Amino acid sequence: MDNQAYLVQMKSKPLTLSGKVGGPFPAKPRSRRQRWEVKPSEMSRNTLNPIRAIVDGMKLIPNPAKPMISLSIGDPTVFGNLPTDAAVLQAMKDAIDSQRFNGYAPSVGYLRSRQAVANFCSRPEAPLEAEDVILTSGCSQAIELSIGVLCNPGDNILVPRPGFSLYKTLAISMGIEVKFYDLLPEKSWEIDLQHLESLVDERTSCLIVTNPSNPCGSVFSREHLQNILTVASKLCVPILADEIYSDMVFPGCNSPSLASLSSEVPVLACGGLAKRWLVPGWRMGWILIHDRNRVFGSEIRQGLVRLSQRILGACTVVQGALESILNDTPPGFYSSTISCLQSNAEICFSELSAVPGLNPVMPSGAMYLMVGIEMDHFPEFQNDVDFTERLVTEQSVFCLPASAFEYPDFFRIVLTVPEELMLEACGRIREFCRAWYRPPSCDGNDLDQ
Ligand SMILES: Cc1ncc(COP(=O)(O)O)c(C=O)c1O
Repeated sequence: MDNQAYLVQMKSKPLTLSGKVGGPFPAKPRSRRQRWEVKPSEMSRNTLNPIRAIVDGMKLIPNPAKPMISLSIGDPTVFGNLPTDAAVLQAMKDAIDSQRFNGYAPSVGYLRSRQAVANFCSRPEAPLEAEDVILTSGCSQAIELSIGVLCNPGDNILVPRPGFSLYKTLAISMGIEVKFYDLLPEKSWEIDLQHLESLVDERTSCLIVTNPSNPCGSVFSREHLQNILTVASKLCVPILADEIYSDMVFPGCNSPSLASLSSEVPVLACGGLAKRWLVPGWRMGWILIHDRNRVFGSEIRQGLVRLSQRILGACTVVQGALESILNDTPPGFYSSTISCLQSNAEICFSELSAVPGLNPVMPSGAMYLMVGIEMDHFPEFQNDVDFTERLVTEQSVFCLPASAFEYPDFFRIVLTVPEELMLEACGRIREFCRAWYRPPSCDGNDLDQ
């Protein structure tokens, strides 16, 4: 159709290749710039990483008498206490030595690597084939492609609060509105489903669920996951399940993947190697397309393939190693990571529970713990940013203020540190709080309220 319209126009007096007008079209005055004016694009101006925005605005000058302990970055490699497994390293060495993975792969990844992910993630209730897997540059790109295929500018997406900041960063830069649904700390950070439901309208194109959670370390029960699916099903909203921390749950916790609990709700599940295999720098992620009810159909699949063709995602060497990484990593590797995280979580929770003015929430997985600050008892500080900034100045301990996750008056602690540093950090936080905590006033006013 478009082509024909073009031909009709060309029939009168054609434009020459040089662009000169040879017909009835009035000559356009050629305008040209008189001076340099190069401005950053709308998209670049609308791209904001709140963590950077907050951290870059903080005065982080540690106390020179105390070595810095940074509990702020969700990178499990920084302290060197959690190396990846030898089998994972060997798989990479073999992939390099084979010289078979130096070229370009198909934009969605090598078929064999996709098959390996499909086999690894397949469950009887939610079977996967290689065509259901798209390999990406980290879970971040998986999230970007998933939002990109489901949403148009002007649509809105539902995002947890507190939640991982990338969702908002990506959505806003794509002209997509973000609506935050509340998580409830008193219910181990379960979703306030009533609130969630109240936000949905006809432009809601995706519900993002992070389980296990960054920043909360919470792990949803099977029942809660089923309730989330009931809401999604009732309101016909597809789910982007961010499951980068899948299976990173403390013993006794069982959290199935969302897709395994519903054959009705279409799910794009995003995952990757970063956290469970402790190699975030290798940038290997994936999208699992779960569509047993054929809601996505071929259109969403093809859309994802087209988006993957913009820029090749996953590194081919890591793709070459993937099958072996997934199949040969010994179970003991996963469990020893989990026991380190759990032991740090228990230490941190019990130490900080005893500190007046702090309310830690015990996690059940992932690698984080959130701590509430009773700001009324710390009148010296205006907010969580102020509080955590001064914690650096006085005690050289840096925790991320949860304003970065749209959740003021909390801070997040990363649990991947060596145990002695965890203990030392908690001791310093206690000292800091003791110095600044102001008990409830004794003038009787409190009793009147
Ligand atoms: C919840 C969540 N999703 C996605 C990612 C991004 O993972 P990747 O490093 O594989 O891009 C992170 C990283 O911290 C995360 O915490």
